[in-house]
Amino acid sequence: MMHFEFFCPVRLIVGDNALEKLPYMLESMGVSKPLLVTDRGIKDAGLATKVERLLTSYEVFYDVPPDSSLDVVMRLYSSYNSSSCNGLVALGGGSVIDTAKGLSLVISAGGGDISKLQGVDVVKKRTVPFAVVPTTCGTGSEVSRVAVIEDRKSSRKLAFASDAVFPDVVFLDPAAVDTLPLRLVASTSMDALTHAIEAYTCIQKNPVSDAFALSAIKEIFKNAPIAKDDKKARFRLLVASTLAGVAFSNSMVGMVHSISHAIGGVEGVPHGVANAIMLPHVMRFNAGKSKEVAGLYREIFSYLALFVGDVAGKTLVDAVDSLMGRLEKEAGLPRRLRDVGVKRGDFDRIAKQAVLDGSAVFNPVSFEEDDVKALLEEAF
Ligand SMILES: [Fe+2]
Repeated sequence: MMHFEFFCPVRLIVGDNALEKLPYMLESMGVSKPLLVTDRGIKDAGLATKVERLLTSYEVFYDVPPDSSLDVVMRLYSSYNSSSCNGLVALGGGSVIDTAKGLSLVISAGGGDISKLQGVDVVKKRTVPFAVVPTTCGTGSEVSRVAVIEDRKSSRKLAFASDAVFPDVVFLDPAAVDTLPLRLVASTSMDALTHAIEAYTCIQKNPVSDAFALSAIKEIFKNAPIAKDDKKARFRLLVASTLAGVAFSNSMVGMVHSISHAIGGVEGVPHGVANAIMLPHVMRFNAGKSKEVAGLYREIFSYLALFVGDVAGKTLVDAVDSLMGRLEKEAGLPRRLRDVGVKRGDFDRIAKQAVLDGSAVFNPVSFEEDDVKALLEEAF
């Protein structure tokens, strides 16, 4: 018998000037002084200023690095405490959002070391109001119950899963992705596509997550090969990433993420890029080992043919390969591990971490270190 749970307790405010509602939403949550958590790239792009102009009393932290870590969360906790803030606003991509989620856990736990909070439901209830403004087309973190943050000491990505990390409200505003470099539009969209394809095929899939996953896949195939100034396509990709986020938060992801988390931890390769490179290889592996997965890929391909029209190739893997080829040409998306600094000598270490990753158990096909090494070799 079918059994599943579905949960997404996040208000979405979507469209032109959605951000203008931020002050009202903060006030309605009782926030008089938020801590704005963001990064230097967002500041340089003028986006932080846009949000700061909407706020009267606030503190700001511009220094979340591209691949954040537990130390950054603890530094932020000190800033939060010393500035008497009473709410959080995360403005950025996955690293910023997950860092703010980690901070919300530490605040809710009443302080202490964040590494003690890793795992599932260690903190059950969030005590600080929390708003998120995503600025990439891929993370989905704004609607997921997981934060992934690196422990620099062990070079491992730790997962913090709890309903407490869902934000109260998310703003999807086209202005937030207007200036995102095309290469990042491409890599983050491939992250979102990976979320949706893995959500549709992993062992915890269900009819509700399927609906979100299919809708995201359709939007990404329609809009991902974009022209530089196509604001409408960027915005639709932003919305698609949230759809994919809702899907995978309720069904989980699989082997692509297991490997890309390990590649990110060992080699520092950006998450979306690592996912994009590994996606077609893992899809071939899963489809080759499981008729059921091959059937699910056919379902997605038929859906695309119906709603997107002229889909390249004869299978979903062909279509993904073709989409990546266009993104490589038009946006400089890397296609091979050697192009992003991954070393053959690290394959053992990556494979060891990948099989232990939290996503591995949700993959529809079980796998071992040798399988991962073979796929890394293929993708090299
Ligand atoms: Fe991801």
